Amino acid sequence: MKFFIDTASVEEVRRAAALGVADGVTTNPTLLAKESGKPEEIYKEICKVVDGPVCAEAVSLESGDIVKEGRELAAIDEKIVIKIPATREGIVAVKILEAESIRTNVTLIFSPMQALLAARAGASFVCPFVGRLDDASHEGMQLIAEILQMYQNYDLKTEIIVASIRSVLHVKECAMLGAHIATIPLGVIEKLIKHPLTDRGVESFLKDWQKIG
Ligand code: G3P
Repeated sequence: MKFFIDTASVEEVRRAAALGVADGVTTNPTLLAKESGKPEEIYKEICKVVDGPVCAEAVSLESGDIVKEGRELAAIDEKIVIKIPATREGIVAVKILEAESIRTNVTLIFSPMQALLAARAGASFVCPFVGRLDDASHEGMQLIAEILQMYQNYDLKTEIIVASIRSVLHVKECAMLGAHIATIPLGVIEKLIKHPLTDRGVESFLKDWQKIG
C-alpha cells in the first residue's frame, strides 16, 4: 500500500518523507486555510519534496470553469493531480481533463456508484472519505471493500486513495483490504510506529546495559 500524506504543510510533508512514507500528498481548501502562503507557492514547495502525485483541489463548480482551473493548476508542476468533487459537473470535467492527459482525483466520494462513474470517466484516482462516513454511523471501510470489488470485476485502473483517515485501525483496515493508497494525517502516521511494549523493552535493555558498565 502506498502512503500519501494528507496535509498542506510543507514541514509535515518533510517529516513524513523522512520516515519514507510520502509517496504522494493530498491537500484540500481546509488544509490550505491552516497554512500561511499562497496555494500555488505551497504546491511548488511540496512538489520539491515528494516524487509522487500532489493533489490540488479545484474550487469551481461549473465543468468549463473546473477544466480551466485544472489546466492552470496542472501547469504548476507535472506532479500536480487535480482534485475534483464527485458532482455531475465534476465528472464532466474529469473526462475532458483526462483526455488531455491531466490526471484527476475525484474527491468527496461517499457511495460506490460515485466511484464507478468516476472510474468510467477515466479518473486516475478516487478519494472515498471513511472517517466522515463513520461519523454518520455508516461503515466507511465497507465502502472501500465495495469499490475495490467493483474495480476488480471490470478491471478498472482507477486507484483508490482512502481519505478522511482518523486512526491507526483505519490504516490497518486499508492494508488488509488491499486499498491502493491511504492518505493519512501526520499525527496518525507517527502513531503507526508506537507500541508501549517497544518503549518498555528499550527502557529495560538500557537499564541492563548500564549494569554491564
Ligand atoms: O483527504 C480528506 C481529508 O482531509 C478529510 O479528512 O478528517 O476532515 O474528514 P476529515
